[in-house]
Amino acid sequence: MRIEELDTPALVINLDALEENLKRYHGYFEKHGIGFRPHIKTHKTLAVAHMQLKYGAIGLTCQKLGEAEVLAAGGIQTDLLVPYNVMGARKLDRLTALAKRLPVTLAPDSEFTVRGLSEATASEGVSIGILIEVEMGFERTGVPTPREATELAKLVHDLPGLELRGFMGFPTPPDSRPIIQETIDLFDRAGLPRDVVSGGGTPHALDAHEIPELTEYRAGEYPVGGAMHLAEGRHTLEQCALRVITTVVSRPTRERMFLDAGSKALSASIYKTERGDSMGHIVEYPDALIGIASEEHGHVDISRCAVKPEIGERVQVLPVHPCPCVNEHDVMVAARNGMVEATWPVHARGRIR
Ligand SMILES: Cc1ncc(COP(=O)(O)O)c(C=O)c1O
Repeated sequence: MRIEELDTPALVINLDALEENLKRYHGYFEKHGIGFRPHIKTHKTLAVAHMQLKYGAIGLTCQKLGEAEVLAAGGIQTDLLVPYNVMGARKLDRLTALAKRLPVTLAPDSEFTVRGLSEATASEGVSIGILIEVEMGFERTGVPTPREATELAKLVHDLPGLELRGFMGFPTPPDSRPIIQETIDLFDRAGLPRDVVSGGGTPHALDAHEIPELTEYRAGEYPVGGAMHLAEGRHTLEQCALRVITTVVSRPTRERMFLDAGSKALSASIYKTERGDSMGHIVEYPDALIGIASEEHGHVDISRCAVKPEIGERVQVLPVHPCPCVNEHDVMVAARNGMVEATWPVHARGRIR
């Protein structure tokens, strides 16, 4: 089937672009001797996870336990990092069950989380790896200072059921290096293991070698790109593998048209362009702005487009943030040269627990 025959809105992934991005990024990490552990929260799809392993990933990262369970049930045999504070009896039961199937590492940032993990794993007779999450100066999760992170690491080292493996941060642009170096120094002085020093984030993935202390790296969006990556020059238009194919369903004036893709097909993420905010980049009409999206309509300002799209015309939209966009879809259509090669279920869609 040709992609023109797909009903819209449809989430389509271009296989040539996907493979090129996998080659480019995995090749970079191999060249620099840094273990690459892709984050599956972006694609949530077993087929892509298998490809990432085939292209040399040392393991995979999942944001939520539910995503890790989907990988385990889908036959993925690798060790998994879940960089999240997992807590509460229900999740801890699921975590110990998962740890009986695959090696799992978590990234807590508090004594509360660490003690809960230790009680659960020790009572089930399983062991999990631990990376302490250290805050890199972006006011995100993570122990706020290297000194406090080292104190938490000492506790982990002493508790049963937990194997201290090192620490991680997110994001880790080159200027986060001093925090990483200070943490390494404090771990070493305390005699704590730190085989893993893990950085993350697509924007600075190809700068990871500027922090030679990193042993591992996590990135999620690199295989597909998106409107932000295009705008910031990390992916060319051809390298933006993920597109929502959508139909112009209304064009009440020469300034305004509506797509059959709203926030339930594109996600509600917005990015700033020189001309104003937009909820995606329309490939065929780059001067158009998706100013707002109601649930099932994309509201598009076409006043700057010299040629106006016609009702019934199909256009391709690069989502701003591929991760929530994928989470809106049951399936992802894999295509090459305009032909559908496969329809992949978005297996971990909605796995937010
Ligand atoms: C802990 C962690 N690691 C890695 C990533 C992947 O980063 P990116 O989405 O920039 O590829 C994320 C993204 O949110 C993250 O939270």
